[in-house]
Amino acid sequence: ADFDLLIRGGTCVTAADTFRADVAIRGGRIVATGENLGSADKVIDASGMLVMPGGIDSHVHLAQHSAPGTPQMADGFESGTRSAIAGGTTTVLSFAVQPRGAGLRESVMAYHGKAEGQSFCDYGFHLIITDPSPNVLGQELPSLVGDGYTSFKVFMTYDDMVLNDRQLLDVFDCARGCGALVMVHCEGYDAIRYMTEKLERAGKTAPYYHGESRPQVVEREAAHRAISHAELVDVPIMIVHVSGREAMEQIRWAQQKGLKVYGETCTQYIALTAEDMKGFNMDETGGKYVCSPPPRDRASWDAIWEGIRGGVFQTFSSDHCPFFWEGTEGKQNPKAKTSFRWVPNGIPGVENRMQVFFSKGVSEGRISLNEFVALTSTNHAKMYGLYPRKGSIAPGFDADIVLWDANREETISQSLMHHAADYTPYEGLRVKGWPVMTLLGGKVVCDDGRILGRPGDGHFLPRALSPFAGPSARQR
Ligand code: URP
Ligand code: ZN
Ligand code: ZN
Ligand code: ZN
Repeated sequence: ADFDLLIRGGTCVTAADTFRADVAIRGGRIVATGENLGSADKVIDASGMLVMPGGIDSHVHLAQHSAPGTPQMADGFESGTRSAIAGGTTTVLSFAVQPRGAGLRESVMAYHGKAEGQSFCDYGFHLIITDPSPNVLGQELPSLVGDGYTSFKVFMTYDDMVLNDRQLLDVFDCARGCGALVMVHCEGYDAIRYMTEKLERAGKTAPYYHGESRPQVVEREAAHRAISHAELVDVPIMIVHVSGREAMEQIRWAQQKGLKVYGETCTQYIALTAEDMKGFNMDETGGKYVCSPPPRDRASWDAIWEGIRGGVFQTFSSDHCPFFWEGTEGKQNPKAKTSFRWVPNGIPGVENRMQVFFSKGVSEGRISLNEFVALTSTNHAKMYGLYPRKGSIAPGFDADIVLWDANREETISQSLMHHAADYTPYEGLRVKGWPVMTLLGGKVVCDDGRILGRPGDGHFLPRALSPFAGPSARQR
């Protein structure tokens, strides 16, 4: 036969075009699109289906190390990527954290150990820099960027992660030198501490007050500070998990000034609100929704859509950061019952990202199919140095493909999930549009919720420098 596999009769969607075509696959790659392409060992009938590039989720946390004695993450690479492929996502970028005092290279190697042979989908790592010592910035980081870890994240809050302004500037400067893309978690540490202590003194310790401890002004201030420091250094930055209008407007303002400031938003900011965190003791469900930045309100959903449609946001991610709900090792751990500040931050969602975004975006008429593909796949590949290997349906690209039924209606529920977490924050959400088959490198790895792939099917992806990470031409 001419090909290993032919996907016949579907409607292909890329970030640029929508077209009826068969897709021919050989050796794990797409080799042709069109009609009457030739013979194949295997044919998949995709009539009535959309044929889209597999999702790329550039913001997930799998097997991320938490401090000893604190709740550990619910998903490692096996269960987290199983959930990813079930949701139509074929590449994840997870985080390799540098614990303070540890070297960067040894930290990355520890995460390779957790992922190798375990992953159902392809994966790469962003580094998280918690300790920007001279050796890290002068030696280790440039060397790792050269080895394909071409992006890293820094935090403006969290006791074990926060960098002060001088450290941020030094990291930005280093990123400028090596051409890496910096992701910034924008929430102000001191403001959150102040609010948290004030709320606790007033006895306001329920999960709901997690949201009140870090209102949008805290996120806006930090976003503005990060943008200002990036302008000073002349380095592009990606502001991740933007929750509402305040931070969105800071990014838009920076973009209108001509700064290379990029934005990411996530499922929870178009599907959850602060109301979900109500339930005023930990035996109720409020803690299930605790993540940072916290979900806001319905007006914020509108602001996020405004940013999506207006091009402020390049990527739509899950920020999958799963903890168990039940049990002493979960979000309801004994300490968490004393104050929201001890509820581990983060929620699962890698499996639901494309379902929710398609339903609210495409099915409800807010974005086009092409925008959907750009925001769930293509832009992630371009932004993080995986293009033109990942992110499109065209000859030469990896045959990472999701077949999508735009008309299928489902209700999201834990019983459908493939993660290890014991709940989904999107329980009961009705969606229209559903992934029906996922292919990784031309192999069917998920067929209508049934996992056919194996741990180890997915491989590590060293990444090229992001074409979006270079300093502005003006100041160079
Ligand atoms: O609450 C969240 N999102 N936790 C994950 C860590 C992060 O800041 O992305
Ligand atoms: Zn973050
Ligand atoms: Zn995150
Ligand atoms: Zn391998």
